[in-house]
Amino acid sequence: MTEIPEHLLKRAAQRRAAMGGGEASADAPSGDAPAGASAPAGEAKASAPAKKAPAPLPTLDDQPATAKADIPVVAAAKSRKRAPYWATALLAAMPLWAFMYVYAIDQPPAGANDPIALGAEVFTPCAGCHGAAGAGTATGQKLSDGHVIETFADPLDMVHWIGYGTAEGTHPDGTYGDVNRQPLTGGMAGWRDRLSTEEIAAVVIYIRQELSGGDPAEDPNFNAETFASDLPGLETMVQEVLDLGPGAPDVSGIEGAETEEG
Ligand code: HEC
Repeated sequence: MTEIPEHLLKRAAQRRAAMGGGEASADAPSGDAPAGASAPAGEAKASAPAKKAPAPLPTLDDQPATAKADIPVVAAAKSRKRAPYWATALLAAMPLWAFMYVYAIDQPPAGANDPIALGAEVFTPCAGCHGAAGAGTATGQKLSDGHVIETFADPLDMVHWIGYGTAEGTHPDGTYGDVNRQPLTGGMAGWRDRLSTEEIAAVVIYIRQELSGGDPAEDPNFNAETFASDLPGLETMVQEVLDLGPGAPDVSGIEGAETEEG
């Protein structure tokens, strides 16, 4: 290391003595720190060492005030930290919010999971011809009192009829259904382009069980339980029936067809 020349050490000692410190000041309380910090301006202050001594005292008295002034700063710092905490709380609550949102959105489908409720809605335009309770009108066949179940023992045949209507859903001889019913007016259009597979499944269940008094157990696939538990399976069945195209339907090849068993 570089050796400090003797004369410089002496000058430093003198300077320290002039500042009223000396060796003792090095061990002095931290109150002297400001004096050390202003060392470069030491000469100016050294000219009035007596006045400088009291100066730190008010500074010490001011310190509590300064501390009080710092409180808003600390408070600001704290409030600044609280924002992230608040955001954290919000983020933590988001899964709950998402759950509530999804649950709220899921609620209407829960109502729609009921084929009777959805079917009644789908049946609205049908009621114009068939009557609200399916009793039939001058322009629409009777559906109630087991009539439609007699016409279509297998719901899949009924799906085909609703999908293709009179023009495309009748047998070659112009009759329709298991009991070769004669069309009343020939005025029923096919609904396959206007109703979804879910809606067709729902309206079939609604007409058979709600309007015609069918026993759900008689329709193992087209009932409320299957609609709620395996709607995709039901929709697949409906789609396969529609895929058979117009004409005399033969649904026996479709998995789930009741005629398949008998
Ligand atoms: C414009 C009048 C009209 C509308 C609307 C109508 N239908 Fe029909 N429907 C008929 C007629 C008429 C028949 C009898 C066949 C014929 O004369 O063509 C019939 C027959 C039926 C049958 C067979 C009933 C049986 O036991 O013989 C079913 C099932 C049926 N309709 C369901 C529906 C559904 C479901 C809707 C609505 C999505 C609907 N219909 C809308 C006129 C209508």
